[in-house]
Amino acid sequence: MLVLGVETSCDETAASVVGNGKNILSNVISSSMRHHRKFGGVIPEIATRHHVENIDRVVKKALDDADIAREELSAIAVTQGPGLAGALLTGISFAKSMSYALGIPLLAVDHLKAHIYAALMFDETPDFPFLGLVVSGGHTTLSVVMDYYDFKVIGETLDDAIGEAYDKVARILGLGYPGGPEIDRLAKKSAASRLKYNCRSVKGSLDFSFSGVKTAVLYSTRDVKHLDTAKKAEIASSFQEAVLGVIVENVLKAAKERGLHDLVIGGGVSANSRLRELAAQKISSSGVKVFFPPFSLCSDNAAMTAGLGYHLLKRDLVAGPDLTAKV
Ligand code: KG4
Ligand code: ZN
Repeated sequence: MLVLGVETSCDETAASVVGNGKNILSNVISSSMRHHRKFGGVIPEIATRHHVENIDRVVKKALDDADIAREELSAIAVTQGPGLAGALLTGISFAKSMSYALGIPLLAVDHLKAHIYAALMFDETPDFPFLGLVVSGGHTTLSVVMDYYDFKVIGETLDDAIGEAYDKVARILGLGYPGGPEIDRLAKKSAASRLKYNCRSVKGSLDFSFSGVKTAVLYSTRDVKHLDTAKKAEIASSFQEAVLGVIVENVLKAAKERGLHDLVIGGGVSANSRLRELAAQKISSSGVKVFFPPFSLCSDNAAMTAGLGYHLLKRDLVAGPDLTAKV
């Protein structure tokens, strides 16, 4: 069964054709990131306009790359949320009209669950239940994943998302946007740090809080006259150790409490090289096997949307014409 995925939750206009939930025949992504850079964050109106102007071309390219005609599609899966309202509605309206015109089912996909599904599209996958951790620009959520669509949230951020903290710290350091990849790169230039930032899990729970560490970074740079690359690298590395340390701590605590031995990590920050290193060094060595998506599926894409949509289709969980965005 061929499912067309459409994803417009934030700044990427994406479309993909996936066979039977796993076979990625095309994966087209058009980002409006360059238009947001000068503002240091995604501007919803600009993102939405980019979706409106590009969705037609992106979907056509996804079909062309997959070398299929739209009549061969079994269904259309679209991101329902969470995301930016206008951006989501562009994809939903497009998918709705296409499903109506072709007379094929419409599938409403949860974006966070799709980020976890991105790691399940390959040969080696964990059995349910397992721990699922979404680390993205908008979310930091730890769940027990019972099934593709059955998630029990056991920990989440009480303030900033981890990707948001990366972006804000990068901004303080005068680095580019998005800041995550910049910090990832820069941190590698600092061997060991004398700086220590405090980032603890929220007492007695599996929740996260990342806004304090961002303020601590701001204070530690305030009185420095000139932030040279070495100093920036030291701050980047210390920040990373603090936030990723809490991630590791909460994940291991959750695995122990729940008796689970597999962890799937998805979302933009899952591309982070230090997180992957810590997963190998600290998480795997504690007996918890970690699954990551390939780099190409860490950030927003429609292959994960189409892939998860296939499982909705198999269960006949089809959306109606009244489908709307769930921000
Ligand atoms: O999943 P995503 O593409 O969009 C959302 O659904 O939010 O995540 C984007 C976030 C941004 O905050 C970006 O800075 C972060 O992922 N990111 C990274 C890395 N690559 C992207 N953060 C840390 N290290 C990276 N290598
Ligand atoms: Zn995302």
